[in-house]
Amino acid sequence: MAITREFLKHQLICGKKMEDPDLVATNLSPAGVKDLLRKDLDARDPWNISSCEYEQKRLHAIMELCLGGRTLGDVLEIGCAAGALTERLSIYSQSLTVVELMTEAIAKAQERVNNSDIIWHEQDVCQMDLNAKYDTIICTEVLYYIHEKERLRGALENIVQLLRSDGQFIFGSPRNAVCRSWGHLFGAEAVLELAQSRLRIVDLRRINGGLPGQDCVIAKLTRR
Ligand SMILES: C[S@@+](CC[C@H](N)C(=O)[O-])C[C@H]1O[C@@H](n2cnc3c(N)ncnc32)[C@H](O)[C@@H]1O
Repeated sequence: MAITREFLKHQLICGKKMEDPDLVATNLSPAGVKDLLRKDLDARDPWNISSCEYEQKRLHAIMELCLGGRTLGDVLEIGCAAGALTERLSIYSQSLTVVELMTEAIAKAQERVNNSDIIWHEQDVCQMDLNAKYDTIICTEVLYYIHEKERLRGALENIVQLLRSDGQFIFGSPRNAVCRSWGHLFGAEAVLELAQSRLRIVDLRRINGGLPGQDCVIAKLTRR
């Protein structure tokens, strides 16, 4: 189901804002987040990305959105998990660089994709140190792991700095309500609201799988 920018604007105006008093935050520290991720990455198919129909629909929508009417060029993927998206991106990109926080995820993705042309960096999106610019940057289901607004703002600024002037940023996240139910503070609407001073939404999709937790937004953004 596609949602329009007007719908999103409506959500941003009428929906719950970041400052709502009833937000349930777990206040996870970066070390706490790593513990959580380590447990998730221990599964055979972390987050069921390769086995769940909703996740397949989500990956398909991400690829459709980033390929729509253009080539991907030099691509930066942030947060690769076990490489399901990396595998697809490696087919369409001119060059592919991956930034990922967790050693365990890089090992799993490398085993799955097995492509010696991919450049891997074990780095935090909040502290990326890359000496390049990219035509396409993809960061889906990653930013909700950041629990402080200033770090989130920093991560978005890092992304803007790495994006070529005519580049595209593909962002994806479960919506605020889903993230809150998982104990995370900043879902899709919150991140897009924060991003709008530096980036403009040019396309937006909503994927709803009909089950709890299966409600996300995927957006294509460009620099302002
Ligand atoms: C839920 S998976 C999403 C995978 C993939 N992007 C997708 O959309 O299917 C989140 C991934 O982001 C990584 N991640 C979480 N926080 C990160 C950070 N601060 N910097 C870089 N990667 C991070 C996790 O280790 C994990 O591999």
